[in-house]
Amino acid sequence: MKTILVTGGAGYIGSHACKALATAGYLPVAYDNLVYGHERAVQWGPLERGDLLDRDRLAAVVAQYRPAAVMHFAAYAYVGESVGDPGKYYHNNVTGSLALLQTMCAHGIDKLVFSSTCATYGNPVHAVLDESHPQAPINPYGQSKLMVETMLRDFDRAHALRAIALRYFNAAGADLEGVIGEDHDPETHLIPLALGAAAGKREPLAVFGTDYPTADGTCIRDYIHVQDLADAHVSALQALEQGAPSGAYNLGTGEGRSVKEVLDAIEKVTGISVPHVFGDRREGDPARLVADAALFQRAFGWRPQHSDLPTIIRSAWQWLNRTAS
Ligand code: UFG
Repeated sequence: MKTILVTGGAGYIGSHACKALATAGYLPVAYDNLVYGHERAVQWGPLERGDLLDRDRLAAVVAQYRPAAVMHFAAYAYVGESVGDPGKYYHNNVTGSLALLQTMCAHGIDKLVFSSTCATYGNPVHAVLDESHPQAPINPYGQSKLMVETMLRDFDRAHALRAIALRYFNAAGADLEGVIGEDHDPETHLIPLALGAAAGKREPLAVFGTDYPTADGTCIRDYIHVQDLADAHVSALQALEQGAPSGAYNLGTGEGRSVKEVLDAIEKVTGISVPHVFGDRREGDPARLVADAALFQRAFGWRPQHSDLPTIIRSAWQWLNRTAS
């Protein structure tokens, strides 16, 4: 059984990737400092507690397990916080990734799947974003991910370390078996906040802006089910194993949904109207972020299977009710 090191394997997307790896016959070793991750989310292989910035610890774990490849999720991901505390993001996300790449080179590991983001594009200049869209992040979080993408290209050229960077749009939903799910503290994402409001466990949802140039005035996003994301990582890993070159790909569905459409879909799934108030725009939110996701689909034969809004919402609702009980 091949071992894969999963940095951030106790986090939201990383833990779903561990499950997908195990289903595909790999042994995922989660390397996580548990600052935002949860020990209980690591169920498909060992948890090695550690920080990427602790190079001795990282090297010891790599030497112990001798992974065939790495999936790299570990990062801070609060856009607003990154504006107020950029040093935290550059230190953890960039310097931590550099430590990982250098450790991989020192141990002869030459395959990496990297968790990147549509935030590397910044404000869209086209309605649908393909991978050739200019990368001009508008916050340090997106900038930190772009810097890592740049390092990946340089490490490939210098050290033949092949990497596939996956630029996610809006990850959402929870494991379809209800075993793991989204568990951020603080939570900032639309769907868990709206479901929490519907369940009476959170404040009414503040809808951030109703005057956007969209059909109903609220922001449009491309929501992709976390299980589809996880499966895409396994496809990317398998492609690298078969000799695929480095690359960067969008991961989305190509379908945009507005905040109001999400609230309507929640009402249909749960039978509860989401308590909400209309508020001001949130700074830095583009009106519309929708992926052209064709490149990854063409290259790897992957298709989103669970990313329709009802499935996303049903799985997140199941998870919320499970964790609340
Ligand atoms: N929204 C609300 N109220 C809330 C929370 C969100 O109206 O309480 C709206 C936002 O304005 C946005 C949509 O719901 O239009 C989705 O917001 P999220 O915070 O769930 O997600 P974002 O689109 O802001 O963020 C996602 C990823 C980030 C990534 C970013 C790129 O979560 O990691 O896309 O812009 F950086």
